[in-house]
Amino acid sequence: MKAIVYHNYGSPEVLKCEEIEKPAVGDHEVLIKVRAASVNPLDWRLMRGKPVFVRLMIGGLRKPKLTRPGVDVAGQVEAVGRSVTQFKPGDEVFGGCRGAFAEYACAIEDRLALKPANLSFEDAAAVPVAAISALQGLRDKGRIQRGQKVLVDGASGGVGTFAVQIAKSFGAEVTAVCSTRNVDSARSIGADHVIDYTREDFTQSGQRYDLILAANAYHSIFDYRRALSQDGIYVMAGGGGVQILQAMLLGPLLSLMGSRKMRFFMANINKEDLVLLKDFLEAGEIVPVIDRRYPLSDVAEALRYLEEGHAQGKVVITVEHPRR
Ligand SMILES: NC(=O)c1ccc[n+]([C@@H]2O[C@H](COP(=O)([O-])OP(=O)(O)OC[C@H]3O[C@@H](n4cnc5c(N)ncnc54)[C@H](OP(=O)(O)O)[C@@H]3O)[C@@H](O)[C@H]2O)c1
Repeated sequence: MKAIVYHNYGSPEVLKCEEIEKPAVGDHEVLIKVRAASVNPLDWRLMRGKPVFVRLMIGGLRKPKLTRPGVDVAGQVEAVGRSVTQFKPGDEVFGGCRGAFAEYACAIEDRLALKPANLSFEDAAAVPVAAISALQGLRDKGRIQRGQKVLVDGASGGVGTFAVQIAKSFGAEVTAVCSTRNVDSARSIGADHVIDYTREDFTQSGQRYDLILAANAYHSIFDYRRALSQDGIYVMAGGGGVQILQAMLLGPLLSLMGSRKMRFFMANINKEDLVLLKDFLEAGEIVPVIDRRYPLSDVAEALRYLEEGHAQGKVVITVEHPRR
């Protein structure tokens, strides 16, 4: 099968499209005929091995141990492992796996769900990492409640476009922060208020929010804290390196001082949340926003584009299968 492979850390040039063996399916795994995948910042961070703690997390200090990129996947079940009970060949699924940028990939069954019936494979592949991050950030870390004032910083990327819609479906009054060219699109996905960060700094406006989800944090943690209401919660998903360090190191300390909470989290792809998202998607409460589509052979281009940091929603990889 064709698969994207890399053997050294570096820029997108390290990615090669190679012919390799189909992966062997483990007992608790499902072999998926990949129809679409999507790219996430995690993919280019692992490819570059930067920041260095990424290498410590996954092993492979000098050379990558995981040589097959791609997490988000949608496709058809080709075969199932001996202990798999929830899927059978032919089922259409979406979720998280290893090595999604390939014609076939294996996934643990608990990280998959049936594909929403009304979604194409491309739309479904756009969902897992970004929408689960938005959901877990808002619901689990942010304890979102109906009627709250919620601000999403970085509202126009993969995580942000889902976060705006999920916050609306929880009944929040949502403010989206994005640049000028994304203002209309933020309104069209349901934001009640939109702040153009090139014209206005919401951390200086005096407005207070019950929950701030930073899909892309580019302010200091102290600025975010100032923009919180008395018992407000700040949840950081991603953003600049300084902001990540502040959220990890200073967040717990600041949370001890007063009633405002400052939190960082790592999303976890699981079946229950995929099924919940499937319900939201089938009800039309959330709709994936897709910016660009690239064929499997152009994963390097897709990652190069994503790494520029201004994708408008999700970037999807389409996988064609030759007739054999
Ligand atoms: N913690 C976790 O488990 C977890 C899970 C998933 C993702 N993440 C992290 O979350 C972050 C976002 O992921 P993503 O998939 O949404 O990335 P993405 O799609 O690459 O984000 C791109 C978006 O960021 C916006 N942006 C860039 N600079 C901004 C600024 N100064 N202020 C506000 N928005 C800005 C851009 O909007 P404009 O073009 O309008 O500037 C663009 O739409 C990444 O750092 C990723 O690593 C973390």
